[in-house]
Amino acid sequence: MIKIGIAGARGLSVLKGLQMMDDVKVTAMCDLSEAALADAAKKLDADVKQYRVFEDMLESEIDAVIIATPMQCHVPQAIAALEAGKHVMSEVTAGVTMDELFWLCECVEKYQKVYMYAENYIFTPQVQLVKEMVLAGLFGEPYYAEGSYIHDCGALAVRPDGSRTWRAYWQMGRRGNFYPTHSLGPVMQWFPGEHITEISTYSPGVWNELGLKQDSGTTTMCRTSKGKLIQLRTDCLSPRPHSMDKYLLQGTKGIFESAVYGKGRLAGDIDRVSLVTNKTETGAMDWEDLMNYKAFLPDRYKNASADQIGAGHGGGDFFIVEEFIDAVRKNEQPALDVYTACEWTAVGLLSALSVTNGSRTLEVPRFAPAMPLEDKRIGL
Ligand SMILES: NC(=O)c1ccc[n+]([C@@H]2O[C@H](COP(=O)([O-])OP(=O)(O)OC[C@H]3O[C@@H](n4cnc5c(N)ncnc54)[C@H](O)[C@@H]3O)[C@@H](O)[C@H]2O)c1
Repeated sequence: MIKIGIAGARGLSVLKGLQMMDDVKVTAMCDLSEAALADAAKKLDADVKQYRVFEDMLESEIDAVIIATPMQCHVPQAIAALEAGKHVMSEVTAGVTMDELFWLCECVEKYQKVYMYAENYIFTPQVQLVKEMVLAGLFGEPYYAEGSYIHDCGALAVRPDGSRTWRAYWQMGRRGNFYPTHSLGPVMQWFPGEHITEISTYSPGVWNELGLKQDSGTTTMCRTSKGKLIQLRTDCLSPRPHSMDKYLLQGTKGIFESAVYGKGRLAGDIDRVSLVTNKTETGAMDWEDLMNYKAFLPDRYKNASADQIGAGHGGGDFFIVEEFIDAVRKNEQPALDVYTACEWTAVGLLSALSVTNGSRTLEVPRFAPAMPLEDKRIGL
């Protein structure tokens, strides 16, 4: 039996998935807030132990923790958990400083426990389908992509009475692309074997009326290890309909353009592809529904049960749990390992430096096992 402790109410987003796994049980729940604990208890089995202090929960007989507390808690709590011999699944982003990222890598290596990055957007059926189409060569060689995360979150940072939450400081109190993960993570699935080597970030300035320091949207250009280009846009303060995320992939043989995901989607907006192998009778290229290619979906998505799909995000909220539990059972690092977590998080942390230095290009360190000290640098 694998016993799980959840820290932070957001961790309940994977509860259904955990409950569907054989020989897995949530045995502990931790939240600083008594009210949040009481709310969580309504969804949990009656025998789940409750804790206000994370370190107290680590002393219980859990094998793994789901860390879903505010961003600035992720690395200190992940390190404490690894030191206590627990496996970790951490919410996004991985950490809030570059130093933290280096500590995190060192601790995962030292304590030999599983660390998985809970970047859930990569588990949607659309992202996985495009990945399989890339691997099958349908887009030829992918060389350009876009990912955007557009989500007006001002109300999560400043309460109606004017008081501020942690987001006002650790997200919208920062310059640059503070939240690159949901735009970059999915796109990186379509560039297998590549990593980000350099970034530069552009901003139209700070125009929000809540007195927050965050840019009114940022555009980050990322260069991959094969010289390809990825454009990220994050905007969490501009007033607009809730549109969430949107993606584009261009290759030598075709293009994928996603619908707007979220409530801001307009009627008729669908995920679409245009492939040179499927030109119209006149020889022109035209759009077709991505789902015409659903035969390429991984089997586990094609065969997903109603319960698995019901866990959320077309089954994604189940598959992320399945990958974590599988890694824990084998005591092997998952694909979304600590180095991936740190690379994607570093893109955001370095973007703050770039945007405050005239969009200067910065090198992204190559996060890898046993990084020598000279590689733990911020290269200009
Ligand atoms: N992957 C996603 O789609 C997604 C969506 C939303 C939030 N998140 C991430 O989840 C995390 C939490 O976000 P949220 O929206 O739930 O925040 P929130 O402020 O709504 O909730 C955070 C909870 O953590 C508790 N908490 C704070 N410090 C704690 C500590 N030291 N120990 C134990 N509990 C503590 C708070 O009491 C609160 O209940 C963030 O890192 C955020 O980036 C991810």
